[in-house]
Amino acid sequence: MTNHRIALIPGDGIGREVTPAACAVLSGIGARHGITFDYDEFDWSCARYRDQGAMMPENGLDRISGHDAIFLGAVGEVGVPDHVSLWGLLIPIRRRFNQYVNLRPIKVFEGVDSPVRGARSGEVDLVVVRENVEGEYSEIGGRSGQGTEAEMAVQEAVFTRAGVRRIAEYALRLAERRGGTVTSATKSNGIVHTMPFWDEIVAECAAGHPGVSLTSEHIDALCAKLVLNPARFDVLLASNLFGDILSDLTAAIAGGIGIAPAGNINPEREFPSMFEPVHGSAPDIAGKELANPLGAIWTAAMLLDHLGHTEAAVEVESAMRGVLAEARVRTPDLGGSATTGEFTKAVLEFTEA
Ligand code: NAD
Ligand code: IPM
Ligand code: MN
Repeated sequence: MTNHRIALIPGDGIGREVTPAACAVLSGIGARHGITFDYDEFDWSCARYRDQGAMMPENGLDRISGHDAIFLGAVGEVGVPDHVSLWGLLIPIRRRFNQYVNLRPIKVFEGVDSPVRGARSGEVDLVVVRENVEGEYSEIGGRSGQGTEAEMAVQEAVFTRAGVRRIAEYALRLAERRGGTVTSATKSNGIVHTMPFWDEIVAECAAGHPGVSLTSEHIDALCAKLVLNPARFDVLLASNLFGDILSDLTAAIAGGIGIAPAGNINPEREFPSMFEPVHGSAPDIAGKELANPLGAIWTAAMLLDHLGHTEAAVEVESAMRGVLAEARVRTPDLGGSATTGEFTKAVLEFTEA
């Protein structure tokens, strides 16, 4: 019997609806593989911010630093500025725990109609490797001249040699294992300092992986090519912002953003990694049992894999695949009428069958 301690942060909106789905699947699968989970649940959220003036307590990060992994639903609520909620919780976790890889796989599954004509199941199998702790997301900058015609805002992007190298190496090694290719997103034609620097370091790293072919594509053209021919891509390596945008795009290509999973990984395992679906708190559908729990369930599979339970992870993925292929039970975003709970139940029943 293996026991894991998980820090659970359901968060806001549909985060609170998809997190129980992930836990149900973890318990169901865990029971068959001799794995149990102890959850410490934290109410860190916009509701807490409204009540207590902070998304999490001052010692919040210390309280989750000893867990085997963190599972987060989603954060964000209308009425609380997004930069306040996200920089008060999600982004500090990624940074303090040096989760510099944001790993976002996506596939077109049998039984799911992609809105993209050329995206067929079995052919589209991508992984976005997103740099997760530096780049365009930075605290450096400020505003001045508030309220005057001369008002201005400056936001600095931060790219370090070590930061770019480690994410590039991660993507190249992943492509090596997959027998695939790396496409690096750039914008060196318009962004004259950081992006040529990114390109140079990525190319240097690629020279050490002769078995992996590396292509660099400007982000604008890459978005178009992904829609026109998603099957030709394998590992997409991107900076923080480009990776963020690419992962919603690739999720949509696979049928919708409710499907996509993510792992915020600290590869050295000095700190816990955090698992969360790619989507946000979806205030437009929250509280209605309409949320697709697939992204959260697939994320649970990534958590299992990260904790060394590869077989259990594969079983979760097979169950997801099976339910989708049967095409009976699906949530409204995928053209069905099942609730969050009904879809989760179908996945659980599939694993038990
Ligand atoms: P979103 O991902 O929440 O929603 C975008 C659209 O996709 C909405 O129409 C929503 O209904 C739909 N959608 C998302 N997840 C779905 C699911 N599981 N099933 C069915 N439909 C789904 O993005 P947004 O609207 O830009 O952001 C809403 C809030 O979430 C904001 O406060 C934002 O800052 C926050 N956010 C948080 C995270 C996170 O915590 N990891 C990620 C992204 C956005
Ligand atoms: C994501 C989200 C976050 C990000 C936001 C909410 C800060 O969009 O995880 O994709 O951009 O990293
Ligand atoms: Mn995003």
